[in-house]
Amino acid sequence: MMKKIKDFLNKKNKSKIVCLTSFSKNIANILDRYCDVILVGDSLANVLYGMKNTHGITVSTMANHGASVKAGVKKSLLVIDMPKNSYNTSRTAIKNAKFLIKKSKCDAVKIESNSKNFHIITALTNIGIKVMGHIGYTPQFKKKFKIQGLTKRDEKKLLLESKEIEKAGAFGIVLECIKKETARKITKELKIPTIGIGSSVHCDGQILVTEDILGLSGFYPKFVKKYINLNKIIEKSVQKYRKEVITRKFPNKNNSY
Ligand code: KIV
Repeated sequence: MMKKIKDFLNKKNKSKIVCLTSFSKNIANILDRYCDVILVGDSLANVLYGMKNTHGITVSTMANHGASVKAGVKKSLLVIDMPKNSYNTSRTAIKNAKFLIKKSKCDAVKIESNSKNFHIITALTNIGIKVMGHIGYTPQFKKKFKIQGLTKRDEKKLLLESKEIEKAGAFGIVLECIKKETARKITKELKIPTIGIGSSVHCDGQILVTEDILGLSGFYPKFVKKYINLNKIIEKSVQKYRKEVITRKFPNKNNSY
């Protein structure tokens, strides 16, 4: 088994798994020093391309950003999202996963569950492709945002779904916006690590979108913690640059040949 996957699995019940998203080399280079997992998420669609959801991003755009991120990564486990409609059948899933891995040199792919596509995970893992699952609020399949696992019935459904994903060979699973108690039960029942986003401290690890924690995206739901307001800092620098260009303070002799 790949060492990075082994290390990831070994963290269960020992230490929390730190994960963040990246879409480019410079950010990845910083994250790599502090994260166990870096995800090239399809949130790229909203965060970077300004799309209204994740549905329009293509396999080749994901692959290009994956390659950029890979250029900044030395040690972290690098996972890339398979975009919507790129894994509708086992055949297309295999073709697209191979393409994403070949182009980006990522270690694994992540696919969202629609509660039926477990056979896709099996098809990929059977040929040695490492797969991370994703349940709960899955933006590729669920139209409206809603906290998941609120009722006993929903909790049971999510538990079964997570076990099917584990059985299909996934090495980990993202739990998105799942009620605290449900996330706790799933984490306890599975052997593979759970990575929470809006799913409480009970998960084995946590992931957030880097642009959200840096205050760059303008998207700050309850589950996001904004650690800094980079928007403000960047704006101040750009204002200063503009002023110095206009007043001829920049470039000075130090910036000239
Ligand atoms: O696309 C994404 O950013 C994700 C989240 C789980 C972080 O899938």
